[in-house]
Amino acid sequence: MSTVCKHFGDCGGCSFQDIPYLEQLCKKEEEIKRLLREAEFEVLLKPINHYPEWFYRNKMEFCFYDNGDGKTVCGLYSKKFKNKVTDLEECLIFSPDIGIILAAVKDFVKAGNYPAYNKYNYKGFLRHLVVREAKFTSQIMVGLVTTGQAAFDRAGFVKLLAGLKLNSSIKSIYHILNDSMSDAVIFQEKNLLYGEPFIREELGGFQFNIGIDTFFQVNPRAIDDFYAKIRGYAGLDKTKSVLDLFCGTGSIGMFLAKDAKYVWGVEIEKAIVEAAWENAKINNINNISFAVSDTKNFLNTQSYFHQGVDLLIVNPPRCGVSPKVVKSLLTLNAKRIIYSSCNPKSLFEDLKLMCQFYRLEFVEPFDFFPHTPHCECLTILNKI
Ligand SMILES: C[S@@+](CC[C@H](N)C(=O)[O-])C[C@H]1O[C@@H](n2cnc3c(N)ncnc32)[C@H](O)[C@@H]1O
Repeated sequence: MSTVCKHFGDCGGCSFQDIPYLEQLCKKEEEIKRLLREAEFEVLLKPINHYPEWFYRNKMEFCFYDNGDGKTVCGLYSKKFKNKVTDLEECLIFSPDIGIILAAVKDFVKAGNYPAYNKYNYKGFLRHLVVREAKFTSQIMVGLVTTGQAAFDRAGFVKLLAGLKLNSSIKSIYHILNDSMSDAVIFQEKNLLYGEPFIREELGGFQFNIGIDTFFQVNPRAIDDFYAKIRGYAGLDKTKSVLDLFCGTGSIGMFLAKDAKYVWGVEIEKAIVEAAWENAKINNINNISFAVSDTKNFLNTQSYFHQGVDLLIVNPPRCGVSPKVVKSLLTLNAKRIIYSSCNPKSLFEDLKLMCQFYRLEFVEPFDFFPHTPHCECLTILNKI
């Protein structure tokens, strides 16, 4: 099958693009069935939910690199060539505007003769280009991540980007300083060069502020539906309490708050919790609170106050939760648990422990990540 993106095969971004989309969905369903069999679950598997397959991601972190020929490229690590970066001209899972933005930034970098950072000798200047796009409001945020080893023409950078003719509009431009040794994007110092500190996304009638370093689910069109489905499955009637573990910016809790008596969210990152409070404020939600805490510590110290909670939401990062945390979750004695994860293997392992006390009602997959092997799985458990 011919692929759509000109970089497929070289770029390490997508690995399923040469598989027709319907076949990708079947493959994901088959894999979930296999994992369920392996975990010895006989449970209803709902059909996989799917959404527009192109231009779905709301965030990309592109990397500046010198592939050895002295030319600075900007793109994603190559799948084909070890220790090289594919110089991207388009990214069809991100935004129709990204080709124009990347071309302009590369011209700017070339004209200024700014060197790419070398992760082996820690020398150089340009590290990453972070671009975020709110899909329902068409607002873009750009962040240039550099070391402090040189200076750059900030005014020229802003003028260049703000003058681009795009489908969406650039509302925010940051310069991020990162002198750490880590190859990840670390937001050591954030300097707003232009526009607003946040871009705004709108989901389910709610507004969400997204900062340069805010966690937000990557596929807004999919999560709009996902959150609405969670709200349906929650079965709340304004008298029930909700505990939302790994709550991120509080979006699931906010979707549920209208139908709940009270919602508590728990999230490890302070900056994310600050964004969650801000989101609750701009949406006039007064029956929600957030705690900055590691879930494990929270459960060790606070579970007494949440005994018998009506609904527990569990939505951990890909690495999942440890068996110890699962055991602590069980001591809460929640009446219903909605556990969703982008790592079905670890999810089903956790469910095995939980099903000593809970009945697994169904598993429902959501294709949050077209053209990649990943898949989100939502599960509902009711206390036996
Ligand atoms: C998959 S996200 C879920 C976010 C949220 N439920 C949503 O729909 O946007 C996982 C979140 O868990 C947070 N997290 C990671 N480890 C954690 C821990 N040990 N305790 C609490 N939160 C944690 C991450 O910072 C991230 O915001």
